[in-house]
Amino acid sequence: MKKSKFISVVKQPLKKARVISVVTQKGGVGKTATAINMSVGLHNMGYKVAAIDLDPQGQLAEGFGISRKALKKTMLDVLLRLVDMKEIKVSAHGVDLYLSNRSLADLWVTVQTPSNVNLYPEPNILLKKAIAQIDTKYDFIIIDTPPTVSIFNANALNASTDAVIPMQPEGMAVKGAEDMLEFIREVQKSSNHQLRVLGILATMVQNTSLHNTVMQDIRKSFIDTDVTVFDTVIKRTIRYGLAQTNGIPETVNFPEYTEFLKEALFNETA
Ligand SMILES: Nc1ncnc2c1ncn2[C@@H]1O[C@H](COP(=O)(O)OP(=O)(O)O)[C@@H](O)[C@H]1O
Ligand SMILES: [Mg+2]
Repeated sequence: MKKSKFISVVKQPLKKARVISVVTQKGGVGKTATAINMSVGLHNMGYKVAAIDLDPQGQLAEGFGISRKALKKTMLDVLLRLVDMKEIKVSAHGVDLYLSNRSLADLWVTVQTPSNVNLYPEPNILLKKAIAQIDTKYDFIIIDTPPTVSIFNANALNASTDAVIPMQPEGMAVKGAEDMLEFIREVQKSSNHQLRVLGILATMVQNTSLHNTVMQDIRKSFIDTDVTVFDTVIKRTIRYGLAQTNGIPETVNFPEYTEFLKEALFNETA
């Protein structure tokens, strides 16, 4: 065939970010720590990264050294379509942040107010629509979520390509993860077919016989399923707690999160 002397200009669709929600139905298990360290870790690897806080506790802000109370515009304003994502963007430690504070707790009541119902007919995909404003600008977008099944988790999962489930290996850990997986399956079936479960990440792991036993149970429980329990585990270290409280994510000093990213996203084993 004769080669055309004209170079064909085919418009490629812009590449969209991988959007990863950090979800569990338990509080205090390291969700926010995971969201922060994944974001900074991916930035350190050279990727363009955004992090979104969808938890009314607003701890992502504090973890990045930003006062949540001082935030003038937040994700609440974005989700209610009062402002665009770019109007609330702040940056810290190389990551673009779209933050929240306690005001986010008003979201459900606001969208359910009879006079607003027509304005927000699909309250569970408000975040998906907001992310469409920015998803070609980033390689990865990480979403932090609260520990209850709510409008926030539903929005996060509907907007995501992937979900990571942090799990502290104690007590009802397996049950908690199974409950979360059930909710994820519902979202996959009903509204977000592209959502993938990236896997379960054990967090705050101590070298005790309880944790060792629970870790074995967790691995056994999921061995015949399509759910990955990552080989990499995040150990409990006092420095994690301090880094978060001081607003300085110290991923460089916490190689486990980098190992986790390699294992979960780039198929590299430690
Ligand atoms: N691996 C860890 N080792 C020690 N402390 C941690 C670790 N991960 C998180 N923390 C601390 O534990 C508390 C709860 O973690 P956080 O990430 O806020 O959990 P969640 O978002 O699930 O509620 C915070 O004070 C945090 O700084
Ligand atoms: Mg949190």
